[in-house]
Amino acid sequence: MASRDAASACSAAAFRLRHLHLELSVAFGPAGAGHLQGCARLELTCLQEGAGELVLDSHPSVEVESAGLAPAPAPAPAPAPQPPLGGSHGEGRDAAAPRRPLRFQSRPFASYGSALHLTLPEPLTAGDTVVVEVAYRAGAGPGVCWLTPEQTAGKQKPYMYTQGQAVLNRSFFPCFDTPAVKCPYSAVIKVPEGFTALMSAITREKQKDNTFFFKMPHPIPSYLVALVVGDIVSAEVGPRSHVWAEPCLIEAAKKEYDGVIEEFLATGEKLFGPYVWERYDVLFMPPSFPFGGMENPCITFVTPCLLAGDRSLADVIIHEISHSWFGNLVTNAHWGEFWLNEGFTMYAQRRISTALYGAAYTCLEAATGRALLRQHMDNTGENHPLNKLRVTIEPGVDPEDTYNETPYEKGYCFVSYLAHLVGDQSKFDGFLQVLYVRLECVSVLLLLIMVTSSVVGFEFDRWLNTPGWPPYLPDLSPGEALMKPAEHLAELWASPDRNMEAIKAVDISAWKTFQLVYFLDKILQKSPLPDGNVEEMSALYPRISKAENAELRLRWCQIVLKNNHEPEFGKVRSFLGSQGKQKYTLPIYRAMANGSEAAQALAMETFSSTAPQLHVNVQNYVKKILGLQTKGN
Ligand code: BES
Ligand code: ZN
Repeated sequence: MASRDAASACSAAAFRLRHLHLELSVAFGPAGAGHLQGCARLELTCLQEGAGELVLDSHPSVEVESAGLAPAPAPAPAPAPQPPLGGSHGEGRDAAAPRRPLRFQSRPFASYGSALHLTLPEPLTAGDTVVVEVAYRAGAGPGVCWLTPEQTAGKQKPYMYTQGQAVLNRSFFPCFDTPAVKCPYSAVIKVPEGFTALMSAITREKQKDNTFFFKMPHPIPSYLVALVVGDIVSAEVGPRSHVWAEPCLIEAAKKEYDGVIEEFLATGEKLFGPYVWERYDVLFMPPSFPFGGMENPCITFVTPCLLAGDRSLADVIIHEISHSWFGNLVTNAHWGEFWLNEGFTMYAQRRISTALYGAAYTCLEAATGRALLRQHMDNTGENHPLNKLRVTIEPGVDPEDTYNETPYEKGYCFVSYLAHLVGDQSKFDGFLQVLYVRLECVSVLLLLIMVTSSVVGFEFDRWLNTPGWPPYLPDLSPGEALMKPAEHLAELWASPDRNMEAIKAVDISAWKTFQLVYFLDKILQKSPLPDGNVEEMSALYPRISKAENAELRLRWCQIVLKNNHEPEFGKVRSFLGSQGKQKYTLPIYRAMANGSEAAQALAMETFSSTAPQLHVNVQNYVKKILGLQTKGN
């Protein structure tokens, strides 16, 4: 490993993790609580002569009940018929052989986790294979989210899901919680009657007694192990794809993506090589899900905001599909290299988008991304240390706190720059494909050096290690036909002598969502507008001011706040009450905190009524913005 992961305490250098097996039962408790109980079994090969202890990443909310050394697995049997379902999935262990108890101790590590030290009965020899079992109970940590029936779309049954990225899965199961370590996994999950369990796995089987079996044969990092339990059903939308959602959303989910997912996958395969994960499903989460999408292998988790009715937010799905190559096959070795996951994925997303929707639309979408990067750099100052691609994550710093637009949009510029150096994008894509086939399943830190070592005059250090605006910007001029009218209209609205005739001459009825988004970003940049203009605009464009599309609602709320347009403050409250995506929630709270007294009061009032619906990390970030005390932060 080129550089140690400061966010993990695990003994990745002393052991190779060969397989993970989880055996858990899920129990819902009262009022949005619940727990997981069972065991995590790790099959390991010792790499370090004389290793006497194993350290796993864990969390204070994980209560270890016992730990033991299980008998090593029998050597792999000759290929035989599949074992009968419902039998033991003990991966070849001799169940009758005794388990040797291990001494264990949990030690403090960081605000976001602890280190579980397990003492081995005797020092190991390099090459030894051991199976360590940890029996535990968990559920109160940040990686495991429990929702009350009221917090779901159907309002009938509770719901639970896990969100691992970046370092949250250590509160789900004791693990090697570094993206540098990958292994296949299997799981047996028992749920209460009337619930369905899903995991990020290729094999999914319902067995008797409300038990589900999962198997992911490809090695994946711990942050991609994901579990969801709820009242969820599925509908087929393509030859290798289903959508999953609560029953009341399944029709809308099917309608939104029926037939199109396969196009996204097939285009990705044409550009970047075979899709190895066999199936690609999409799970629509309850509204409090903090991300637009999360690329859990085989099953992307997405916000229900994507159900816009017109496929206008499909770029999120294309983004998560792109992670099937960039991030999930080849992975950043630690979170300081997060831009490798997200920058390459943004590039891939826009290559797929260009192939399907053309350069004009894709450049317009990329221009809205560039505007977000501009906003971010203006807010933080260009020279902020997080505005480099390669970030130093000091011991104790929560990787989550380094999250921003830079890895996405500056990363995109850098990968576009590499493609530009190579000269021809399809040649560059082919080059990536070759690399990915060779490097499949390897966590690489230095993928980049390999890509570019042949390129002369390469400004490697500046891109990676210097904060600031990207030294190269890809040409977005193919989007100008869509951008220019939006820029023109924004200028008209920003001018003090509001020329309604000229404004009304611009027909926006045929504009795509992203053209409106681009227009609203320009309006936001020019805000506050001259008195009365926001009110006029609101009346003239109900498609914007009364939009149901979340990207439009976000921008309209930002405009309302920046112009202190109090008559529409109710829209801010209702948008924040309707969903809990971090990228929507935080900018709006920032705008309120920096706004008028009325806006600040709105922030306090909204937060006190909606906080319990938010993911705990999002709650903590909002508290910080509002100057409310948070523990451990
Ligand atoms: N992997 C990320 C989400 C994430 C990042 C979760 C860091 C936890 C920590 C996902 O692929 C992502 O980037 N989602 C974006 C989609 C967008 C860029 C199209 C989102 O949620 O907004
Ligand atoms: Zn991503």
